[in-house]
Amino acid sequence: MPPSLNPAVMEQLKNGSAPQRDDQRMVEQALARALAAVDRNLAHFGDQFPAPSSVGGVYPAMGNDEWTNGFWTGMLWLAYEASGAPRYREAAERHVLSFHRRQAERHNVNHHDLGFLYSLSCVSAYKLTGSAVAAGAAMGAARLLLERYQPRAGIIQAWGDLNDPEQAGRMIIDCNLNLPLLYWASAYSGDPAFRDAANRHIEAAARHIVRADGSTFHTFYFDPASGAPRHGKTHQGHADDSCWARGQAWGISGFPLVYRHNGDTRLLALSKVLANYYLNRLPEDGICYWDLIFTSGEEERDSSAAAIAACGLLELSNNLPLLDPLRDDYQRAALRTVRQLSEHYQGDEIPGGGLLRHAVYHKPHGVGIDESCIWGDYFYLEALLRLSRSWTSYW
Ligand code: GLY
Repeated sequence: MPPSLNPAVMEQLKNGSAPQRDDQRMVEQALARALAAVDRNLAHFGDQFPAPSSVGGVYPAMGNDEWTNGFWTGMLWLAYEASGAPRYREAAERHVLSFHRRQAERHNVNHHDLGFLYSLSCVSAYKLTGSAVAAGAAMGAARLLLERYQPRAGIIQAWGDLNDPEQAGRMIIDCNLNLPLLYWASAYSGDPAFRDAANRHIEAAARHIVRADGSTFHTFYFDPASGAPRHGKTHQGHADDSCWARGQAWGISGFPLVYRHNGDTRLLALSKVLANYYLNRLPEDGICYWDLIFTSGEEERDSSAAAIAACGLLELSNNLPLLDPLRDDYQRAALRTVRQLSEHYQGDEIPGGGLLRHAVYHKPHGVGIDESCIWGDYFYLEALLRLSRSWTSYW
C-alpha cells in the first residue's frame, strides 16, 4: 500500500515553518558561505576536479575521469548565475572543452552517468551561453547514452560493457537523472529516438524499481534477450530489500524532472509516493540515514541524499497543481532540510573541503563514509539557487 504522509510528520513540518524573512536570511547567508567555499576550491583545484568523495574532509584532485566531474562544473555555473562573476564562467568554459574532448575520445564514458556529466557541464553551458561547442559535446554524450539502450527490456544499461552478461539488462534508480540529457537531445536535434528510449526507461523504472510500499530497489535486472523482468538487487544499500536513501532521493527528484520533459502526470504521483515514504522515515533533525531502514542509532547520515531530496521536493512541489494538499508540505520539508544542512552539516572552511560533511558514498565497499560527496555539494548549491531566485534547471 503506497504511503500517505504521516500526520505527525505533517504537524512537525507545519510547526517548523519559520517566518518568510528568516528563511530568506538563512538562504542568503548559506549561499554566501557556499560561494566562498567554491572560491576556495577554484583556487585549490585550478583546472582539475575534486574526487567523488573527500578523504579526511578534503577532496583529492583528479582529472576529468570520473562519473562525478560534472557536479563541480555545474557548481561553477550555479556560482556564475548567483553572482555574475566572470571567474566562474571562465573556469566552467574551460571545463566544457575538456568535456568535449572526453566524449570525442570516449574516455571513461562506458556507463550511463553521461547525464550527470553532460547536463550539468554542457547543457547548462548551452542554455546559459548558447555555446555550439557545448551543444555538440552534449549531443555526443547523448548518442553514447543511447547506445546503452536495450530495446527488448526497454532500459538503459547502467554499468559495464554492453557485452558483459553480468551487467546486461541491469537498470538503476540513479539513471532517472541521466534521462533529461536524452530529452534535451531530442528537443535540440529533432530526433525522437532519444526521447522514445527515455520514455521506455522511465516506464520500466516506475513499474519495477518502485515497490508497492513506496520504497525503491537500487537496481533491477531484466533478461536482456527476452526483456522479462527478473529481480531487484542493491549495490550501495544495506540489503536487497532495504531502501538506500540516495536511491530514494534520485527517485523523488528524477520522476518530476522527467515529468517536465514528457508531461506524464503519473510521474508526479509516483514522486509523491516516494517522498512520503522518505519523509516518514526521517530522524528528528530531518537528515536521513544512509539507508532508510535506519531511523535512529549510530549509523551514518547521508547529507548528500538529503540535498538531492530537497531539490526533488522543490521540483515536485513546483510542478504539482496549486491546490494539491501536499504542495506546501513538500516546500516546507525542502526548506527545513536546507536549514538543517546549513546550520549543522556545513564543511570546514579549508581549501579542498566540501560544502557539506556527513555524507556516505559507498558504505558496503567502505568508500567515502562520513565524508563530503561532490554531488551533495552540487545539490545543496542547486537548492540554494532554487530557494533564492527563479532558476531555470540544467536538467
Ligand atoms: N550514482 C551513484 C551514487 O549515487 O553513488
